[in-house]
Amino acid sequence: MSSFKADIEEIRRRAREKMDDGAVTSSYQADREKVIEVLNEVLATETVCTLRYRNHYFMAKGVHAPGVEDEFLEHANEEQQHADRVAKRIAELGGTPNLNPSGLADRSHAQYGEGETLIDMIREDLIAERIAIGTYSEIVRWLGNDDPTTRRMMEELLAKEEEHADDMAKLLGRIGH
Ligand SMILES: [Fe+2]
Ligand SMILES: [Fe+2]
Repeated sequence: MSSFKADIEEIRRRAREKMDDGAVTSSYQADREKVIEVLNEVLATETVCTLRYRNHYFMAKGVHAPGVEDEFLEHANEEQQHADRVAKRIAELGGTPNLNPSGLADRSHAQYGEGETLIDMIREDLIAERIAIGTYSEIVRWLGNDDPTTRRMMEELLAKEEEHADDMAKLLGRIGH
């Protein structure tokens, strides 16, 4: 866990790098390309989160598993819906959704953490949700009023990730120590 702080700082620095140096320019074209770049990182994040939750769904074991399994599957499906919305928005903006498996983990803000025990899995999910909350909040602020449609989508994703984090924190409280 000690390296987590450094990791998130690096992830945020990288996410911010894309948004820095005149994110909003007078050239609509240039701005749109930056939005597409940032959204492709969000797409990778959502895809990695889908895969991680699906892994956890299939690997969940133990007496607590029944309820937890359902939660993992529900989250996996919601992350997939997020990925689809982001991909659709990228296409609307004239970009290409990058679903290339090669480099997927590097493009993602959050990690694909399998976790050996149920508690480990829930912790991995909670960390990933917190990372998404951090980077999505920054994206919302960065978009400001320049692309309200994309901002609204990111706000809706952010609200859902907050719900997910809350779900995972409650599960940890229920079965973790
Ligand atoms: Fe998501
Ligand atoms: Fe989530």
